[in-house]
Amino acid sequence: MPDRLRVGILTSGGDAPGMNAALRAFVRRGWELGLQPVGIRRGYAGLISGDLSPLTPRDVGGILELGGTFLGTARCPEFLEPAGQKQALEILRRENLAALVVIGGEGSLAGANWLSQQGVAVVGLPASIDNDIQGTDLAIGVDTALNTVVWALNRIRDTALAHGRAFLVEVMGRQSGYIALMGGLAGGAEVIVVPEVPLSLEDIVAQVEEGYRKGKRHSIVVVAEGVRERLGTTSQLARAIEEATGLEVRVTVLGHLQRGGSPTAFDRLLGSQLGAQAAEDVAAGKCGHLVAWQQGKLCSIPLAQVTRKSPAIDLALYRLAHSLAT
Ligand code: ADP
Ligand code: F6P
Repeated sequence: MPDRLRVGILTSGGDAPGMNAALRAFVRRGWELGLQPVGIRRGYAGLISGDLSPLTPRDVGGILELGGTFLGTARCPEFLEPAGQKQALEILRRENLAALVVIGGEGSLAGANWLSQQGVAVVGLPASIDNDIQGTDLAIGVDTALNTVVWALNRIRDTALAHGRAFLVEVMGRQSGYIALMGGLAGGAEVIVVPEVPLSLEDIVAQVEEGYRKGKRHSIVVVAEGVRERLGTTSQLARAIEEATGLEVRVTVLGHLQRGGSPTAFDRLLGSQLGAQAAEDVAAGKCGHLVAWQQGKLCSIPLAQVTRKSPAIDLALYRLAHSLAT
C-alpha cells in the first residue's frame, strides 16, 4: 500500500450543526483518494497542544445526524499570540501534516489565512450559524439554526396570542442580523431589530403599536443580540416598550439552543459536499482557499478574501419582512 498523505482537520470557534457531516465526508472521500486524515481535537487549542490522532472511515460512523463536532472545538486566545502560532507551526511540521483543513467561522478562517500566509497548505470550510462569512452565501449550521428559531417562534406565538402580550425574542449572530431577519421572516415576526438597520426605540414602539391598532392581539419582536450596544439589553428594551405602550411584554433569549440539534437535510448535504470537495482539492494539491457555496454551487475563494460579511443581510428582504408583518 503506498504511504497515505497525512492531512490534519479541525473544527474551530462556535460549533455549528453539520460540522460532523463535513468531517465525515472529508475522512471518507479523502480515504478513497489515498489521504490519511488526522483529526485535531478542540480547534487551534488542540493544534498547539498536539492533541490529534489518525482517522479511518469507521471512526466517523454514526455522526452524520449529530449536532456539535465529534472532534470538539474551542476559542483559543493563545493562537492569537506569537508563541502559540509558533507552536502550531512546529506541531504541523513534527506531525508531518502535508495540509490542514479548517472548519469554522470568520475568526477561525482568519486563522487559516494566517497559516496559509506562513506557507501551510490550508483549505477552509465555512461553518457558523451567524452566516457572516464573506464569499459564501451560506455556511454550515445556518439552516438548522433558522429552523430552531422558527420552531421557537411558533411556540411563543401560542402564548403571546393567549395573553395578548408582546414578546421580545433575542437571537444570536454577533454583529450579523442574518438569523434575526431570516428567522423572523420565516417565523412571521411583527418587528425585526438588526444591527444593520438602526431602528430607534421610538421606531420599535411605533411598529408594535401599529400592529395592535390593525387588530393584532399579540406582537413578536425578534431582536439580534448585536443591537445591544445601541439599544441596551433585550430586558431593558422590553421594559422601555412596556413603559411606552402599557402592554405586557415578556422576553425569551434563545441563546445556545440555536447552536444545537440534529442538522437539517440541507446542512447535511452542504457539509457533505464541502467536506468531500476539500478532500479532492487537497489530493489535487489545491490549497489556500475557502470551499464556498454560491448560487447553489461549490466554488473556491482565496482565504485572503474571506472577511466578515457586512452587512450580512439582504435589505430588500428586510423591507419584505416589514410589509408582510402588517
Ligand atoms: P468563529 O470561527 O466561530 O468566528 P472565533 O471568532 O472565536 O470563532 O475564532 C475562533 C478562533 O480562531 C479564535 O479563538 C482564535 O484562536 C482564532 N482566530 C480568530 N481570529 C483570528 C485572527 N485574526 N488571526 C488568527 N487567529 C484567529
Ligand atoms: O459565532 C457563533 C455564536 O453562536 C454567536 O452567534 C454568539 O454570539 C457566540 O457564538 C457565543 O459564543 P460562545 O458559544 O463562546 O458563548
